[in-house]
Amino acid sequence: MAEYAATGVKSVPGALQSGSVSVIWSILELQDVFGVAGPIAEIGVFKGRLFLLLCQGLNEGERAFAIDIFGQPPGSDQDMLTDFGKNLSRYGLDDGTVDIQTVDSSSLTGGDLTGRFGGQVIRLFSVDGDHGLEAVTHDLHLARQAICAGGIIIADDLFNPWYPTVTEAVYDFFKAEGKDGPDDLEPIALVAANGPVETGAAKLFIARYSHAAKYKAGLKLLNQADLKHCDPFAGFADIPTFYFDGPPQKHVLDDSMGQILEEIVTGL
Ligand SMILES: C[S@@+](CC[C@H](N)C(=O)[O-])C[C@H]1O[C@@H](n2cnc3c(N)ncnc32)[C@H](O)[C@@H]1O
Repeated sequence: MAEYAATGVKSVPGALQSGSVSVIWSILELQDVFGVAGPIAEIGVFKGRLFLLLCQGLNEGERAFAIDIFGQPPGSDQDMLTDFGKNLSRYGLDDGTVDIQTVDSSSLTGGDLTGRFGGQVIRLFSVDGDHGLEAVTHDLHLARQAICAGGIIIADDLFNPWYPTVTEAVYDFFKAEGKDGPDDLEPIALVAANGPVETGAAKLFIARYSHAAKYKAGLKLLNQADLKHCDPFAGFADIPTFYFDGPPQKHVLDDSMGQILEEIVTGL
């Protein structure tokens, strides 16, 4: 993880900034502490920049699911598939750990995912495929149905001026009611692009109500130097926002941090 975060990530094409890397690293550490286990998944892996980071957090025997169209029509961009495969190999992930699924996510239902994931529920699910309004809405609902009780969804490009439909879809998702709504999901953190927060391009982290307070507390503790403020969003209070004037200053979850975390979480 440390090697990939420091240098590996820059060697894989894609868009993933160091601030997001540090917060995702914390999420993976927190999942180990909270006993949240299982496979990870991403819709829209491209050449694997974020996917490889998520894979650094896999524990013994856990699998990862990579979903992408790899060109339109699906599978037509053999170069992208080859590059993705090569990047997996560089990190020893060509041993059956990763299940590559060349498919348009809009053709999938929640029921399909259960079969595709071998009946296993996902603990960390990145939604970074088609950025259109209907596609993002669809993929958020897919992820909602696929994650476990302590699972996290990472929604990419919120507030990115290049993709206003992502913001629209995420906001509408949280404001909708009934079967179109978020069920027990809530936003737990916003990670803005490195540099001035006006640059947008944030990632939004989403968890189930049962685990939201614990994750928020853990992220605030481990990334306290980069925590800027807590604000409401889409009807939910107190969403911590992290952004990065300089290199992220993430605390390692060592024994002393673990003790502090335990005290905080026990009091929640
Ligand atoms: C912004 S890139 C993802 C970047 C990537 N997560 C990274 O770490 O570099 C978007 C990806 O979504 C894929 N994509 C677009 N529409 C899709 C769809 N309907 N289903 C699955 N993947 C899709 C594209 O092929 C592309 O690889």
